[in-house]
Amino acid sequence: MEISEKLLEKYNKPVPRYTSYPPANHFNEKIDGRKYIEMVKESNTGKPENIAFYIHIPYCKKICFYCGCNSCKLTSTDEHLKYHEALKKEIAMVSRHISKSRKVTQIHFGGGTPNSVAVELISEIVDIIRNTFLMSPDAEIAIECNPALLDRDYVDKLKNAGFIRFSLGIQDFNEDVLKKVNRDPSKLPLDELMSYIREGNSSIAVNLDFIYGLPGQNPDSFAETIRKAASLKPDRLVTFSYAHVPWMKPNQKKLEKLGLPGPTEKIEMFLAGYNYLKNNGYKPVGFDHYVLPGDELYKSLKSNMLHRNFQGYCTRRTTGQVYAFGVSAISQLDHGYVQNIKSVRDYIIMLENDSLPAEKGILLTDREKAVREFITHLMCNKQISTDMVDDMAGTKIKMSDVMTLNENELGEFEADGLIEIENRQIKVTEKGSMFVRNIAASLDPAYKPAKNKYSKSV
Ligand SMILES: C[S@@+](CC[C@H](N)C(=O)[O-])C[C@H]1O[C@@H](n2cnc3c(N)ncnc32)[C@H](O)[C@@H]1O
Ligand code: SF4
Repeated sequence: MEISEKLLEKYNKPVPRYTSYPPANHFNEKIDGRKYIEMVKESNTGKPENIAFYIHIPYCKKICFYCGCNSCKLTSTDEHLKYHEALKKEIAMVSRHISKSRKVTQIHFGGGTPNSVAVELISEIVDIIRNTFLMSPDAEIAIECNPALLDRDYVDKLKNAGFIRFSLGIQDFNEDVLKKVNRDPSKLPLDELMSYIREGNSSIAVNLDFIYGLPGQNPDSFAETIRKAASLKPDRLVTFSYAHVPWMKPNQKKLEKLGLPGPTEKIEMFLAGYNYLKNNGYKPVGFDHYVLPGDELYKSLKSNMLHRNFQGYCTRRTTGQVYAFGVSAISQLDHGYVQNIKSVRDYIIMLENDSLPAEKGILLTDREKAVREFITHLMCNKQISTDMVDDMAGTKIKMSDVMTLNENELGEFEADGLIEIENRQIKVTEKGSMFVRNIAASLDPAYKPAKNKYSKSV
């Protein structure tokens, strides 16, 4: 696959990432603890019935300059122990209202760096959830880890706690790049770490995360990193496009001084990874994931059932309404989103005072719920029919009744080879995958172009 400069110039614009619909910067309704509990109670009759838990651990030993996540430095004080107590209290206060007849299909620890705190704190939370809810026998218990902090003992304890998916943040194998962004390499040789994680349990999967677009990277060096990554045979491999949002993350300004690769170099890095992985046993899924052919994400893609939430791609099997805990965490319920406050200090104080830390969110109308289904379907499965009817909202709303079908814009996407239109089906082409966010934005009835609101598509 190749992408011309002309296409890049035309479509490399700020557009939503659509990890949620509407995007998080539309969460403008005040939602306090009482309102959140009403929503939780209502969610018991919503769809999907399954429960997914997201636990946010914001702490990191060091802060990487590119970081776009809600992260903060782990200090030597015992603040994180207070945070742990607050998390447990939040889980207890919310769990009381979630129906015990529903099953847990996913528990995901994200951050920050969950493995920057004592492993016993992590396993205690898993035990609390297990002791409170029915677990689906094949529930996915997953954790994002920084391999710079991961040793055998920590891995053993995570495996004993039931973790079956480990996402390791690698970003780049080139140590000069890591130095520039203030990051350490893996503590153990990565092949040794990956075999140790997998040892003795064939259902354990290892994902590796990479970022392209960082200072010091170029298409050749990134291709080298991806070749090395593929040789390690991770179950899934992600190449994130570096999201530069310095108005939200001032630390990222440090990277501007070091020189960020431009869009042409970025696309070359993406393509180096894409072409190599595609020719070496991996299947592209979504716009940044690559999986082995037996992976259930690929099987779901083949049957048009791939799905996505804030934690990444998932299948309808692991999909649940997401109840999120911890600072800045976003719950994704049938009828709306709720985000917790972002300050760790305030989060702890609120829970010490028995108040839930919910702050803001959005309640969705049936039309918005339908648009959410359609956009998610397009972003995941790269095709949509204007006849498609939303099953999830239960209102049988048709795609063409709620989405914008601007003939001129669709005609341009078609002329540029990004989509094919046939029998009311819009199919995103291989080239169009790179710009699926632009295509989704053009169909989104609420999208308004805005600078400094979204990262660029490439
Ligand atoms: C919470 S971190 C993963 C766990 C751990 N903190 C680590 O860094 O290894 C999630 C992933 O988000 C990605 N990420 C962070 N900031 C990003 C940015 N500005 N643009 C694109 N991807 C980013 C990185 O690939 C990172 O591995
Ligand atoms: S990338 Fe990971 S380790 Fe680095 S600051 Fe962000 S959350 Fe922390």
